[in-house]
Amino acid sequence: MAKDSPAPAWIDLGAVEGLRDRPLREIKAGSLRIALSYCDGQFGAISGICNHVGGPLGDGTLDGEYVVCPWHHYKFHRSTGDGEPGYEADRVPQYALKVENGRLLLNPKAVKGRNHLPHPPHPLARDPKREPGGIRVVGISTTVMDESYPRYSTSETLLGYALAHAKEKESCETRLIRLNALKFRHCEGYYSKSAKACTWPCSITEMDQADQMEQVYEALVHWADVALIATPIRWGAPSSLYYKMIERMNCIQNQITLRNEVLIRNKAIAFIITGGQDNIQAVAGQMLAFFSELGFVYPPFPFIAHSLGWTAENMERNVEYVRHSTALRQGASELVGRAVHIARDLIEQHMSSEHIERGGRKAHNPAHHHGDVPSE
Ligand code: FES
Repeated sequence: MAKDSPAPAWIDLGAVEGLRDRPLREIKAGSLRIALSYCDGQFGAISGICNHVGGPLGDGTLDGEYVVCPWHHYKFHRSTGDGEPGYEADRVPQYALKVENGRLLLNPKAVKGRNHLPHPPHPLARDPKREPGGIRVVGISTTVMDESYPRYSTSETLLGYALAHAKEKESCETRLIRLNALKFRHCEGYYSKSAKACTWPCSITEMDQADQMEQVYEALVHWADVALIATPIRWGAPSSLYYKMIERMNCIQNQITLRNEVLIRNKAIAFIITGGQDNIQAVAGQMLAFFSELGFVYPPFPFIAHSLGWTAENMERNVEYVRHSTALRQGASELVGRAVHIARDLIEQHMSSEHIERGGRKAHNPAHHHGDVPSE
């Protein structure tokens, strides 16, 4: 240090003895959040704020010499702040430490500053702007079956009628997604760690290129003007694959909570619900509530449904009924017709393109808690 430089202001972190008891902790040093580690008789101090989306590094774990972020598991060297091998330049600030009179002191002037390696944004992160062209309809079938020995599905069959009608009679582009054919992970609860840990695109999608939920996101957020969701009733509820899908869609809703970003605009949605037994209204209620939270708009009479009722245990008869029902086939066509109609109106009038006031809602004023990574 040059002779006339002012002496650095060291900050007292506490008694050395008391700081040796844990391999990793978050500790405040003035306004700094520090990830303080102690391993093999050596302390290390780096910023406690992760480079990714600001996860609390001091609450993470140690993997050898690396601090593992508790949110999405990025790693930084516990003493130098460098990223893990191969990503060394993606680093968090490193701070100097010294021991005096049994006290651990930290110099708040970083030895090395933060450096973000530029990462190309995920393709899903683009602005959800509607491409020009005719109305686009995606059908999502949520029924589960053995792909090697497919069975007749009443909900998927009616969805097929609806898509065919959209294509042939309404001149729409159509796309069918069968969740059963996709490989995708369950939601792993990033939101349960912190709202800011639940990112858009989904943290799993960003980390796991093999995860095929991307196809659902792409269709619903970017491509489609109309979505049709078809589900069987399983014990009075939509199918397990339906729930697996919508849990992964928490990240879409969370962007409204965190940053007032409504990703779903000017899109209509409708539902096809079939079951051997009853509970149609409860299933429809769940679906209507969930998709309204994302910003979808409903046509009048937004679902069609069929069941034989509580005392009916004859599934063969149920399948035969749906197979030969012209009323249900026609109902599926009319359902998609209503949804296409409302989507056309929404697009022409840009009904929900502007800021949407949402007073009385849990996330109607999120400006005070949006989360960017603070800089040192
Ligand atoms: S890995 Fe640290 S915030 Fe995502």
